[in-house]
Amino acid sequence: VFANVVQAPEDPILGVTVAYNKDPSPLKVNLGVGAYRTEEGKPLVLNVVKKAEQSLINDPSRFKEYLPITGLAEFNKLSAKLIFGADSPAIQENRVATVQCLSGTGSLRVGGEFLAKHYHERSIYIPVPTWGNHPKVFMMAGLKPMSYRYYDPSTRGLDFQGLVEDLNAAPEGSIVLLHACAHNPTGVDPTPEQWEQIRQLLRSRSLLPFFDSAYQGFASGSLDKDAHSVRLFVADGGELLMAQSYAKNMGLYGERVGALSIVCKSADVAGKVESQLKLVIRPMYSNPPLHGASIVATILRSPELYHEWTVELKAMADRIISMRQELFNALQAKGTPGDWSHIIKQIGMFTFTGLNKEQVAFMTREYHIYMTSDGRISMAGLNSKNLPQLADAIHAAVTT
Ligand code: LMR
Repeated sequence: VFANVVQAPEDPILGVTVAYNKDPSPLKVNLGVGAYRTEEGKPLVLNVVKKAEQSLINDPSRFKEYLPITGLAEFNKLSAKLIFGADSPAIQENRVATVQCLSGTGSLRVGGEFLAKHYHERSIYIPVPTWGNHPKVFMMAGLKPMSYRYYDPSTRGLDFQGLVEDLNAAPEGSIVLLHACAHNPTGVDPTPEQWEQIRQLLRSRSLLPFFDSAYQGFASGSLDKDAHSVRLFVADGGELLMAQSYAKNMGLYGERVGALSIVCKSADVAGKVESQLKLVIRPMYSNPPLHGASIVATILRSPELYHEWTVELKAMADRIISMRQELFNALQAKGTPGDWSHIIKQIGMFTFTGLNKEQVAFMTREYHIYMTSDGRISMAGLNSKNLPQLADAIHAAVTT
């Protein structure tokens, strides 16, 4: 009965790892998926995560019962506090409905399905380019993905004018997806002044912001600074959706731990919204997993562990920033044609190199460098050992 099923293509990001795993070369380097690696090229389990896990194991009162449909209540509270700030008026006024979800993707999907069921407008405006999964997630959720200009290849920076024009032309009430910080794949973020203009534009046209926050703390090394854009919108008292992920900033990739928060106008509305979110979640996966959320709650609840986390997070962010400088220096030293200053200007996990599909294919074929075909490289996969190989590959790709 399944004989007519056709072979599906690999995922444009996760498929890079599949290809990398098949390559027998000892020289191979995976700069595809956004996953942090140490200077030794190894995946990192944060020390603070190990400590939290140890304390969970040692706690005799721990159980493995089902969580409620909305997840671990303490985790939800602490997650909202982390992104919106402890003194957020929305939290103090109990206007936030937060549910634990399967990392950022699950939060986007649950939020998308809620909107498709309960919001009057289906169009969701997504930046071009964006994380490849965004349009698929929202389409499957029942929304209509539309696009707005974001990145200007000629400046390798923000196309602010294009963004303003497109959002001004969007039908009133449309949903707008915003990357809270460290835009994926470009590493290009609006300035604080531009964020304020974006806020005014959205609010004046009743556009509904849906934030994706996958990199809080990873862009600048400061959790508060990386939440600036979101807090600007919460401060004006308006509504928004927030998808939060702990994959990168706590290194909990495979634990699939994240949260969806919906900021409402009143506590009464937030209660009703939460009741409807339960109706989205229950037939999808019943209730979320316990372990990852328990790790996060253990860390966020303890002032000592929280502090340790911020130190480890800053170290990861700083290592990525230093890799940017080293790669830029290496290309300068080689005299590689072109302006590569965007490598040090962009922030977060990725550099959007400007290399085209053919150049990427060349680098994979000749240098065993694996990256997404749009020219994005995960800076977190670089280290002093593989960096010269990447610089050689880029140099050869642009000069041959
Ligand atoms: C990425 O963009 O590489 C990450 O967000 C991982 C993923 O799931 O695509």
